[in-house]
Amino acid sequence: MILLVGNWKMAPNKSTEAINLAKKISLSAKTYKKSINTVICAPYIHLPFLIKNIKTGISFGGQNTASSEDVAQTGFINSSMLKSYGATYCIVGHSEVRAHGETDEQILASTISILQKNIIPIVCVGEKERDGHGWYLSSVKEQVEKIFLGVPKNQIKKIVLAYEPVWAIGKNAAREATVAESREMIMFIRKVIADITDEKTAKNTNILYGGSVNEQNAFNFISEGGAQGLLVGRVSLDAKRFSSLMKSISLSQ
Ligand code: PGA
Repeated sequence: MILLVGNWKMAPNKSTEAINLAKKISLSAKTYKKSINTVICAPYIHLPFLIKNIKTGISFGGQNTASSEDVAQTGFINSSMLKSYGATYCIVGHSEVRAHGETDEQILASTISILQKNIIPIVCVGEKERDGHGWYLSSVKEQVEKIFLGVPKNQIKKIVLAYEPVWAIGKNAAREATVAESREMIMFIRKVIADITDEKTAKNTNILYGGSVNEQNAFNFISEGGAQGLLVGRVSLDAKRFSSLMKSISLSQ
């Protein structure tokens, strides 16, 4: 089963647009539900409406959560709120949030609080750039270790990781990652997980690829890039393109 996660980031602006878009995506998702599990991580403000209006085809998730339940955090939301509205997934550690100063410690704390509420965390890891010395490997290793060493052992198998090279994300991406780059890094991440846990856990960890995924390259990231799913930004805001993407990856199963 492929896990396909749409990250709507800070769009769309209106709740009616959000519901219309989700309805269209839900229709396509139903067509491919045998091979694809589709999740939409929407802005918090839309989540209650989406979850109330769209009951089939897709599951919904948040885009981050506070690292503690201390109420004195203006502008934040916590995992209990996500749970009470029926969110089943939550992105954590996205590079766009890390860029605002979110630390590995906060990401770990958020991950633990999400798991405590029985929500599935989609933890994003990825290097800012590819250097010639292999330092990019150690930066990803550190991010993965922080999570896998910190999360209670009995919760580890619930974690979903998303490998997202920061340089390949968004409309200002330097370039797309190659399938070989994705495969190598995902193999490397599995080795880091195996060193902390065991081979079986490493093999079973659900690892997604994200960063400029579109209807043309999606199939290859799944069939050759080592990814068991995808985290998709811009293309998940376009129902037609997202549907073509679903069609293409369904052929890899
Ligand atoms: P993109 O975003 O697909 O627009 O590059 C991916 C992400 O940030 O998760």
